[in-house]
Amino acid sequence: MSDLIIRIGGEGGEGIISAGDMVAQAAARSGLNVLTFKTFPAEIRGGYAMYQIRFSKDEIKSEGTGFNVFCAFNQEALDKNKSQLIPGTVLVYDYPGGDIEEEVKIEGVTCYAIPMSKIAKKDLDMYRAKNMVALGLLSYVFDIALESLKDTIREKFGKKGQAVVDTNMKAIEAGINYFKEHYKKTDPFTMGHTDKVDKDIILISGNEAVGLGALIAGCNFLSCYPITPATEVAIYLAGELPKVDGTLVQAEDEIASLANVLGASYAGAKAMTSTSGPGLSLMQELLGLASMAEIPCVVVNVQRGGPSTGLPTKHEQSDLFMAVHGGHGDAPRVVLSAENVADAVDLTVLAFNIAEKYQIPVLLLTDGSLGFRTESIKRPDPKKYTIVNRERFKPGGDEKYLRYKLTESGVSAMSIPGEVGGAYISTGLEHSQSSAPSFTPEDHIKMSDKRFKKMEGIADFVPPPEEQGSGPADVGVISWGSTLGTVREAVDMARAEGLKVKALHPKLVWPLQEKQIKAFAASCKKILIPEVNKQGQFAEILRGKTGIDGISYPIYGGLPFTPKQILEKIKEVSK
Ligand code: COA
Repeated sequence: MSDLIIRIGGEGGEGIISAGDMVAQAAARSGLNVLTFKTFPAEIRGGYAMYQIRFSKDEIKSEGTGFNVFCAFNQEALDKNKSQLIPGTVLVYDYPGGDIEEEVKIEGVTCYAIPMSKIAKKDLDMYRAKNMVALGLLSYVFDIALESLKDTIREKFGKKGQAVVDTNMKAIEAGINYFKEHYKKTDPFTMGHTDKVDKDIILISGNEAVGLGALIAGCNFLSCYPITPATEVAIYLAGELPKVDGTLVQAEDEIASLANVLGASYAGAKAMTSTSGPGLSLMQELLGLASMAEIPCVVVNVQRGGPSTGLPTKHEQSDLFMAVHGGHGDAPRVVLSAENVADAVDLTVLAFNIAEKYQIPVLLLTDGSLGFRTESIKRPDPKKYTIVNRERFKPGGDEKYLRYKLTESGVSAMSIPGEVGGAYISTGLEHSQSSAPSFTPEDHIKMSDKRFKKMEGIADFVPPPEEQGSGPADVGVISWGSTLGTVREAVDMARAEGLKVKALHPKLVWPLQEKQIKAFAASCKKILIPEVNKQGQFAEILRGKTGIDGISYPIYGGLPFTPKQILEKIKEVSK
């Protein structure tokens, strides 16, 4: 087996997330590629929580479709996943003595019942260790590196005391022994190991990747307000920024967060904020200020289900309209969207580079599934990145400093407060080249044109979108954000079946790289645009800006696409 998907489901508070994290970590340490997906309720306790780990010796592009092995901690988890327990899959479940009251028998499904609750409660006197009983069994049956698993237990629970670590170790052994005493392995699945473990492979989440990218770019200021699913960006940087003499300010709300960022950037810092949908709504007025005053800033928006408090822990790609068009006035901004964890590092660096080079607000869109997901990636080498810094005012020249000087590119040199000869007025008011407030038609036209001039350079500054497949195609898929990985896998599957399909993977979603997008569309009979929102927001933007009348394929159930869903749609469309 080169590709295995294990899903664990149960109640929030039962340690599903810890168990999943540990399996992922053990797999990554065994040299396998890992990509995880988790979804959990908005409550701290209760509700359905799920963690899925996909491992492979080959590259992994998406969460995959369904699972090979499902481990059910309770009846609700079993009920929710029953339809996917198809012949050939394996069910591990808590029975007897737990929440599941009946023995499960499904035609073609290998079922391993293990009384994890009972063992944890009665034998170990620690109900919390139920997840480790399950992990013990999983590690034995599917050959998950036991020593790595034990290491992660020490690392994760060490701070809770030696007694907790010891009980968890006993729980692992209890799970293994129960299987040995009651079953013979009859399923074909095994996680396996690779011969060579690459020490340069790290397992990080999408949110941590954003933080890492920010550090590589030279970010030295973060201000934000905690919000699911974005908080982890700040948690990561809270540990890292002090090491580079950076500053993190937890503000009283999102408005203050972006205000802090603009102040810091105005004073010369490389500054960023991280938030999710409702927070981005609050930031809209200040994004206008950033456009008007031409202050570089990066805003990371980890999208979640909306509107309002909506589905705070669920996946959606529905903030594109707001990212592109939100706010007042004619305010240019740039919107990037990341495909996967490695991309989140690269695009955060790119976001800073664009913000600095063009003195413009740059929004980086990720989403709940990407933010929470962990992936094994090659450790990014900071030396391999080109870092761009803003054009600075040069003191001592003969000419009077014009902060908003009209230039070919629309970009003009920026001074730092206190620089002799570099004083200027920075407000949200329209201004002349010198920065003095001005409301004349001439200045408003000239300055609006200056600000938008920058957008022309950006489409060329960003690398062109990658094309998957070449030549004429019956169906061309264009998507964005983390859906891209799923599209990649679906298109590979479709091409393997002989379908004439290709895909375009844009990372810059505003302004659009129109030239490349139009050329791609011209080589396809039909364009399919899958995305996770109700309105088909990217399809709408593409239609408006390029005239491409693609087939919108929106889904909005709080979950990402599976490759199979997109493959089926490609087949339907290519008929
Ligand atoms: N031994 C000891 N402790 C264990 C354990 C074990 N075997 N297994 C788990 N635990 C601990 C974990 O360390 C964690 O403790 P901590 O809080 O001190 O870190 C706790 O039990 C919960 O376990 P965990 O695996 O992290 O999560 P879970 O799968 O039980 O699910 C969540 C809990 C994630 C669903 C829930 O806590 C949560 O965060 N919900 C989302 C809240 C939110 O963001 N709402 C939106 C607001 S807008």
